[in-house]
Amino acid sequence: MADASPRIVVTREIPQAALDLLREIGDVWWPQPDKALSPGELHQVIAGADAVVSTLQDRVDAAFADAAGPRLKVVSTVAVGYDNIDVPALTSRGIVVTNTPGVLTDATADLAFGLLLAVTRRLGEGERLLRSRTPWSFHLGFMLGSGLQGKTLGIVGLGQIGRAMARRALAFGMDIRYSGRRRADEAIERELGATYLSFEELLSSSDVVSLHCPLTPLTHHLIDADALARMKPSAYLINTTRGPVVDESALAKALADGTIAGAGLDVFENEPEVHPDLLELDNVALAPHLGSATVETRTAMATLAARNAVAVLTGTQPPTPVRG
Ligand code: GLV
Repeated sequence: MADASPRIVVTREIPQAALDLLREIGDVWWPQPDKALSPGELHQVIAGADAVVSTLQDRVDAAFADAAGPRLKVVSTVAVGYDNIDVPALTSRGIVVTNTPGVLTDATADLAFGLLLAVTRRLGEGERLLRSRTPWSFHLGFMLGSGLQGKTLGIVGLGQIGRAMARRALAFGMDIRYSGRRRADEAIERELGATYLSFEELLSSSDVVSLHCPLTPLTHHLIDADALARMKPSAYLINTTRGPVVDESALAKALADGTIAGAGLDVFENEPEVHPDLLELDNVALAPHLGSATVETRTAMATLAARNAVAVLTGTQPPTPVRG
């Protein structure tokens, strides 16, 4: 049975609809005004919690579980990625971990495709030109970009977001290939007309490489100097998964010396820092981790996270547990 009044800690402000769900069953605390908690502050505020609704900024590990204490039953992250969570350290203590897959698929693929258009059509560069009041005039050779029709999109990790990216690319007339730990179902390959390649083949044959794999020890710096050197000099790299999948200084160098043509990045190795060399380059489109940042998507994510926490606290099966 549910605790009479479980203590629920929410580490960053979340939409009202999600707070309302949590308040129906427990005492809810969240930082007001909203702010990023330091690790020390985080450990203090979670002491005695039955549930923590967390974000990707929180380091959730054995020290976190110790700081929370023995009442902690669930950590519900408002994110699909959970590389910030040491899942075995929690599950071995009987703590359930949940995430929010599915509800952010379209928003993230939209942003990934937006970055692809931004870098190939030089939108940021064009805007910077206008804002700097630099004189310009229309002419046929002015600020030419690169078209997408007939080009190949190489997707690393054909999960839900990778497939959503592929569908968008198909609508733009691109051909799809993918690599990943395992081959997708035949029906998915057929729907997307997608060819399965080794990672090396994907790198060397794609006009655009878009990363949709989770960050794990295996994918850390998957895109390093070696991988970048395998890509075509005319190719673009899009990263909307996690920053450390890319060796950011190797990428900055590859963009500066023409190893590849450009990049679109929504995530960074040491967020909120961005490698200073990237900030100087015109052939990279940058966004501050906005993949799921729409009102609709953030509301859906927070509501799902709240439902996960409520389910565990009331002794029922959470909709989207992390199996670990
Ligand atoms: C965002 O980056 C997420 O993992 O949901």
